[in-house]
Amino acid sequence: MSVKPIFFALDGPNLNEFEFMLKKLEGHIFGVKVGLEMFISEGPKVVEKLKKDGWTVFLDLKLHDIPNTVRKATKSANNLGADFLTIHIASGKDALQEAYSSKNDSLKILGVSQALTSSTMDAKMSKGVSEDFLLAKQCSVDGVICPPSEIERTKNLYDLIVTPGIRLNNDTKDDQKNTTTPENAILAGAKYIVMGRSIINNLDFVMNELDI
Ligand code: C5P
Repeated sequence: MSVKPIFFALDGPNLNEFEFMLKKLEGHIFGVKVGLEMFISEGPKVVEKLKKDGWTVFLDLKLHDIPNTVRKATKSANNLGADFLTIHIASGKDALQEAYSSKNDSLKILGVSQALTSSTMDAKMSKGVSEDFLLAKQCSVDGVICPPSEIERTKNLYDLIVTPGIRLNNDTKDDQKNTTTPENAILAGAKYIVMGRSIINNLDFVMNELDI
């Protein structure tokens, strides 16, 4: 059985509501993403529990703060056992460098640009994303959260490209505007994709038929 390069976004207030799906997905996907909603309502123990169950955990806290706070928060995430952590590149050079120098190799830092996948991309925003990713690279950030439309032009800079905004062909887009399919994201150069609602709505298809 091949492991699909997918992070399942656990976007809800309780881990319990995902237990059934997690049991089914075990061994089929690369990891899970804990975002603000889950982290705030369940607390840090949710990361420890998922790690104990054998999951690779992507802690999507999108840190955006002064260098001292970013350094300490990164250390805490590292101590908690998170495998990936997001930081806003807009936090600036000093904060990004602090994040890099305060962690060990078990934690990968992912830079988040100003463009969320809930916005449509225009030329000005695309230029801003490229500038953000360049700064992240200069500060030794391990990888980036990259909108679908920007994967092609990012892959020369980064191997570790993680792409949200994923929808299957027949899915509704919900609030996402910058979207692509799992196959196209991987073909374009994403190393991992993030899927939330598309997995919940198509669990059996993603497990058994999706070929990535
Ligand atoms: O349900 P859906 O697949 O749209 O969820 C996407 C997940 O990826 C959410 O957890 C969202 O916070 C996250 N994300 C995103 N766009 C970004 C960064 C993160 O959709 N640019």
